[in-house]
Amino acid sequence: MLYDQVSEAAATIRASSSLRPTLALILGSGLGDLAHELEQAVPIAYADIPHFARSTVGGHAGRLLLGWLENMPVVVMQGRFHLYEGYAPHVVTLPVRVMRMLGAEVLLVTNAAGGVNPAYRPGDFMLIRDHIYMPGLAGLSPLVGQDDVRLGERFPSLTLAYDQQMQAVARMVADRQNVTLHEGVYTMVGGSNFEASAELKYLRIIGTDAVGMSTAPEVIVARQIGMRVLGISLIANTATGNETGEVNHSGVMETARAVRATFSALIRGIVRELAKRSAEP
Ligand code: HPA
Repeated sequence: MLYDQVSEAAATIRASSSLRPTLALILGSGLGDLAHELEQAVPIAYADIPHFARSTVGGHAGRLLLGWLENMPVVVMQGRFHLYEGYAPHVVTLPVRVMRMLGAEVLLVTNAAGGVNPAYRPGDFMLIRDHIYMPGLAGLSPLVGQDDVRLGERFPSLTLAYDQQMQAVARMVADRQNVTLHEGVYTMVGGSNFEASAELKYLRIIGTDAVGMSTAPEVIVARQIGMRVLGISLIANTATGNETGEVNHSGVMETARAVRATFSALIRGIVRELAKRSAEP
C-alpha cells in the first residue's frame, strides 16, 4: 500500500533527524545549490530511503536534506523525479507525501522551464498562477489507482491550487529585490524530448506561459493532502516555437547556473517572510 510506503520512508528519515520541518522545498534542474545554504543540514541520499526512486538526470543530486533556512525548519529535495525517467506518477510524487508526513504544511516548488510567452527572457522568473498538466488530462494523474482515505480526498479541487497569500509574498520579495517575476500558467509535458515548434504554438494557444516536465503532479498531491503551494519557474530558455536555434539540457543548466545567486536570494527572501509571518500571532 502506498500509505505504508510513505510511513516507512518517513520513519527512516526520522531515524536520521529529529527535525520537524514546516516547509518543503523542491529544487529543480540546476537549482540544487541552494541546498548547500541550509544550516545544521542532515543529508540523506534517496538511495537510502525506502520506496524512493533514484534521480537519473544530470543537475539533480538525488538527496533529501533536513535543516534550517532563514529560521525555518525545512526539508529540501535536491533533485526530483520525473515521468520521463520511467516512474509512475504516484512514485514521482511519493516524496511529497513523505515530506507532509514529516510535518511540512507548505510546499515551495521550483523548476527550470521554457518561456512560451514571448515577453519572457532566459534568466527571468515566473510565479506559477495555475497549471495545465497535459499527461494528467490524458489519464496520468498521480491519484489514479490510489483510493485510500489516508492519502486524502478522492476528488480534490484544483481551483486556487496555488496559494494567493504566498503569491503576494513572492511578488513583494521579488519587487524588493528588483527581480523580474512574471506570473503565468505552467504547462507540464511528458518529455524528455523538447517540444516541436507546432506543439509550442499549440501550447501558447491554450494559454501556456512556461513549459516544463515536472511540478504539476507534485502540486496535485500536495493539494490532496492539504498543503499550501507556491510555485516558481526559472525561465531557462525561450520556447515560443519561432526560434531558429536548438534548445538543449546543457543550455538549461547554464542559465540556472548564471542566476544561482538571484534564485537563492529570492527563495531565501520568500522563506524569511513566511517564517516571519508564521511567527506572528
Ligand atoms: N520545454 C520543456 N521543458 C523544459 C524546457 C522546455 O523548453 N526548458 C526547461 N525545461
